Amino acid sequence: MPSTLLFVNAAQVAACTGPVRQTPDADPAAVQSGAAVAVRDGRIAAVGAEADLLREFADAERVDCAGGVLTPGFVDSHTHAVFGRYRTEEYALRCTGVPYMEIARRGSGINASVRDLRARSEDELVQMALPRLNEMLRCGTTTAEVKSGYGLSTADELKTLRAIRRLNDLQPIELIPTFLGGHEVPPEFKNDRAAYVDLLVNEMVPAVAEAGLARFCDVFMEPGVFDRAETERILRAGLEHGLRPKLHADELEGSGGAELGAELGAASVDHLGDISEAGIAAVAGSSTVATLLPATLFFLGRPRWAPGRALIDAGATVALATDFNPGSSPTPSMHFVLTAACSRMGFSPHEALRAATAGGAAALELGDGRGTLAPGAPADLVLWRAQSAGEIPYRLAAPIIEGVWKAGERVI
Ligand code: NIG
Ligand code: FE
Repeated sequence: MPSTLLFVNAAQVAACTGPVRQTPDADPAAVQSGAAVAVRDGRIAAVGAEADLLREFADAERVDCAGGVLTPGFVDSHTHAVFGRYRTEEYALRCTGVPYMEIARRGSGINASVRDLRARSEDELVQMALPRLNEMLRCGTTTAEVKSGYGLSTADELKTLRAIRRLNDLQPIELIPTFLGGHEVPPEFKNDRAAYVDLLVNEMVPAVAEAGLARFCDVFMEPGVFDRAETERILRAGLEHGLRPKLHADELEGSGGAELGAELGAASVDHLGDISEAGIAAVAGSSTVATLLPATLFFLGRPRWAPGRALIDAGATVALATDFNPGSSPTPSMHFVLTAACSRMGFSPHEALRAATAGGAAALELGDGRGTLAPGAPADLVLWRAQSAGEIPYRLAAPIIEGVWKAGERVI
């Protein structure tokens, strides 16, 4: 295969190198019309006027975009894509009005997935995750964070993280692993939660770090799950072992998670469905990324949405992700997330595109240009059957992806 490709005949190229917030002078998606994209050795070599690149890369193999739109591949920075079975029966219950946290209190919810995952082998988890990752790829995701968190014992968390590592070599999406031992208190510690936090801090975090199996440490900080003091203890233990903090913060009921994340210098605080004014100010004044997961609040039937517009206007860096998981968000679709961000959280289409690409890369602290089409970035691209970048979120749930390239190789 020739190592240089030239993508020609695109209506628009969205490089996603602009600022977070759209203004009359600044375009977050950095859209160019009449531009071509050159790819060499798996990286973006140039983006510029097609006539110029046709001369500069005269020998390149051409890819005809047929009047479509090129964007970076999505960086889905928050998923729980390794799990056992789907929890379809819970959905039926929720549709009759039983709330998510009530289902959790009855012993289903996350703990149902914990019982299920513990009974499965590492091989089985790998085999079950492969078709799901393929669905994500078909939806345009080329980099994804994947969390553990359905094991909740040292052995089962390590098993999950090893499965994630193996999956990295078995399919095209690059997976960034996060340790989420603080996802829920497992049933055997129900009456002694302090002992579970001790186990996390004294055994699980050191074992995960020692094995080099995770980059981040995450905790579900929420009333009824982990409180502020417990969360801080777990995240500080992670920091001591070189795991960067992330938080499930203020998802359903605010409890100061955004403030704690900003204080700890977390890579991101995620969900934020009930973030406070003080939380918005704290995140905006920090380097912590605000990651919004609208598919979750949609799927749980919650009446409110995270204050995306307020976060952007306050100056926060925002990311959009799926939260792909068997309980609260069984969708691989970043395309749906874009539409939800625009229709329900006040994002402009170009702000949403940037948040789902460069924003996700920021939430994962990937400093290699990922999520953009800047020269030197990995050549991860999606070709859309659309006439403009703004048409992508507008085409709600329409299957308009023509092709996906990972590191310069066509994978869809
Ligand atoms: O991000 N909030 C906690 N964890 C997941 C849900 C996991 C599950 O229900 O299995 C989430 O929504
Ligand atoms: Fe989550």
